[in-house]
Amino acid sequence: MSIQCEIENKIVLVTGANRGIGAAIVDAFVANDAAKVYAAVRRVDSVAPLREKHGETVVPVHMDLTDPASITIAAAAANDVEIVVNNAGVLRTASPLSDDAIDALTFEFSVNVFGLLHMARVFAPVLRENGGGAFVQLNSVVSMKCFPQIATYSASKAAAYSLTQALREELADQGTLVVSVHPGPIATDMSTAAGVAEGAEPPAVVAAALVAALVAALRAGEFHVFPDAMANRLGKAYRYFSQTVIEADVTEDAG
Ligand SMILES: NC(=O)c1ccc[n+]([C@@H]2O[C@H](COP(=O)([O-])OP(=O)(O)OC[C@H]3O[C@@H](n4cnc5c(N)ncnc54)[C@H](OP(=O)(O)O)[C@@H]3O)[C@@H](O)[C@H]2O)c1
Repeated sequence: MSIQCEIENKIVLVTGANRGIGAAIVDAFVANDAAKVYAAVRRVDSVAPLREKHGETVVPVHMDLTDPASITIAAAAANDVEIVVNNAGVLRTASPLSDDAIDALTFEFSVNVFGLLHMARVFAPVLRENGGGAFVQLNSVVSMKCFPQIATYSASKAAAYSLTQALREELADQGTLVVSVHPGPIATDMSTAAGVAEGAEPPAVVAAALVAALVAALRAGEFHVFPDAMANRLGKAYRYFSQTVIEADVTEDAG
């Protein structure tokens, strides 16, 4: 299966576009000559800095991943989209035994897992109508390895990665490339809140590496992107397992 997706002149939608990795992805799509980038956000006024920088190429759209109706309304407004990047995500620091573990897991699943599911279900038909395109999901290195202090977040990102694998196979039938992005610690509000910002790569460097890898993956039709140094180390170790299990038909030799 080989699905190609160029970026130039494409129409893109990025969730959580107003800050952190999402804003960097918007910058990169504009720099790579995307025709239009819908910035899907909870507060449309938070897109003002991106509008100042990029002008009318960036189009604000209201969307809250915990509100499925807002996703449906946004998809109707952005019905010409060809590349969807589901970047919005949330994190709480909770280990399995901490007092707030259940609340944290529920909250993180509501955005990181159910949000992804709503996004895929609403945008799959739109992408199909527009020729296939790509659906990009921001997962994490913690999708593969649980970090105990952020165990509930890790579990949500593992669940999101699991769904992303299914989407890769299911959306291939309609010619949609699915890409799973797995950053390590990146210096944003999220990593600061998680207490893992120390040692995180500088945001500009990491954002550029992430976007370059993302562009390369879209062009080459690859499934995983491991953008920063830590992620890259994990990605190298993971490659064989991915080729022989995740991206392979393991039912071939069954029986
Ligand atoms: N930073 C890291 O170290 C790291 C590493 C691996 C993966 N990731 C993943 O990369 C993605 C971006 O992370 P980040 O570090 O840029 O996070 P961030 O700085 O905390 O930004 C999170 C973004 O998600 C949006 N968001 C949160 N809840 C939402 C909801 N219910 N509906 C719509 N948007 C919502 C936020 O919007 P508001 O401004 O309205 O809150 C914000 O734009 C996430 O999926 C994260 O899990 C991050």
